Amino acid sequence: MQSIKNKRLIRTGSFIAGHWHNSDAALNVYNPATGQLLATVSNAGTEQAIVAVDKAYAAQKLWATRTAGERSELLMAWHDAILQNIDDLARILTLEQGKPLAQAKGEVAYGASYVKWFAEEALRVYGDTIPAPSGDKRIVVLKQPVGVVGAITPWNFPNAMMVRKAAAAMAAGCTFVVKPSEETPLSALAVAALAQQAGIPDGVLSVVVSEDAQGIGEVLTTHPHISKFSFTGSTGVGKKLLAQCANGVKRTSMELGGNAPFIVMEDADQAAALSGLMSAKFRNAGQTCVCPNRVFIHRSIYDNFADKLQNKLGTLTIGPGLNDEVDIGPLINEKATSKIKALVERSLAMGAKVLYTLSAPLDGCYYPPTIMVNVNNQMPIARTEIFGPVATLIPFDSEQEVVELANDTEYGLAAYLYTRDVGRIFRMSEALAFGMVAINEGVVSNAASPFGGVKASGHGREGSKYGLDDYLNIKSLCLGGIDA
Ligand code: SIN
Repeated sequence: MQSIKNKRLIRTGSFIAGHWHNSDAALNVYNPATGQLLATVSNAGTEQAIVAVDKAYAAQKLWATRTAGERSELLMAWHDAILQNIDDLARILTLEQGKPLAQAKGEVAYGASYVKWFAEEALRVYGDTIPAPSGDKRIVVLKQPVGVVGAITPWNFPNAMMVRKAAAAMAAGCTFVVKPSEETPLSALAVAALAQQAGIPDGVLSVVVSEDAQGIGEVLTTHPHISKFSFTGSTGVGKKLLAQCANGVKRTSMELGGNAPFIVMEDADQAAALSGLMSAKFRNAGQTCVCPNRVFIHRSIYDNFADKLQNKLGTLTIGPGLNDEVDIGPLINEKATSKIKALVERSLAMGAKVLYTLSAPLDGCYYPPTIMVNVNNQMPIARTEIFGPVATLIPFDSEQEVVELANDTEYGLAAYLYTRDVGRIFRMSEALAFGMVAINEGVVSNAASPFGGVKASGHGREGSKYGLDDYLNIKSLCLGGIDA
């Protein structure tokens, strides 16, 4: 952490209603590239989360009365502060999360693009007038902020996931209390410091850092002052949180697990498909919800494509994210590497084979990037979200077959399709049961596109012109007596 230039970004306590809270209880944050202790952060309890929610409730009344223009300007000031500190924020991110520095910088810029997007969208929360059923009536629709939003954000994008939720909530006139992952709290605390510097009023944004995921989760899903809960994380945890929200009938947005198919048709531009696969599969060491989990390749090009993939993977460098030449960093922790190892071993026992493995450093939480063949859609490696740098290749023979295979999963977040046939693009995109389909493109997400899934991948949309809807209530006014 000594290399961070702006020392005000290094925060080791929760940020609650404009105050930095330190306590005796502590949690340790480790660098996954080395296993060494990076920082010790105060470990907040549920009582601090309750204070944060109560303060957010009080602050929301005032925040909602600020004009859209004022909220927009404050968000834009936050955006500018984030970009001014991009180098330090990226370093903090790499140190606590492990991804290569260039990718960390990309994540900070990506997160900031949502802050800018929602600063602009704040100005466009339009209502409606609706033709009434009789001449003496008028119907007017207002959109109002839902209130206090509770959120839990993940360790795989500790900067971008936090700011993209917070910016949308704040733009809509909501206040926001977030618990970042205890693995990677430093990025969320650093952007909170910049929100304070940008002039975001006290109580509008609070960050509660705690190892007590269950206790804080309970506060953020059940406290009577919470109107809405937003979560990015695994489907298993998401289901529990959703059940907790049910009792209070809270509104929810759930960005959960994925099992993305990456489909390469026989008429695809193979070079484009290869480069799309490399970035989609190995970005963040495969630890993304939109990461291709099953690579379906038409049988007629399967061997050739597998050879090229192997050659390409062989050119990558794996190691600590702060090293300039590194393309793939460590996984987040030992639990993550053990989970992937078990998935691979169980699938090998069922007949899968390893085509290629890139050797990885022995120290630190590394999993060697791997290509597996002889895989079928029923093997654990194809049914479970891998969340690591293992590409599983599955051959297919027809369009109909591959759509059925792709949809044969409980998940429905992202899918990738490579073909040059425009009719096929529409037929297949419409038939794929996923919230997002990237066509001839390896990057599915940007601030202008709605991000979110269907089925067990969740509900709600982040980013885009739809992203504010999740934070707004629709109120209809029915006016009578107009003719009198
Ligand atoms: C995620 O993996 O959770 C988000 C990825 C993205 O926004 O691209």
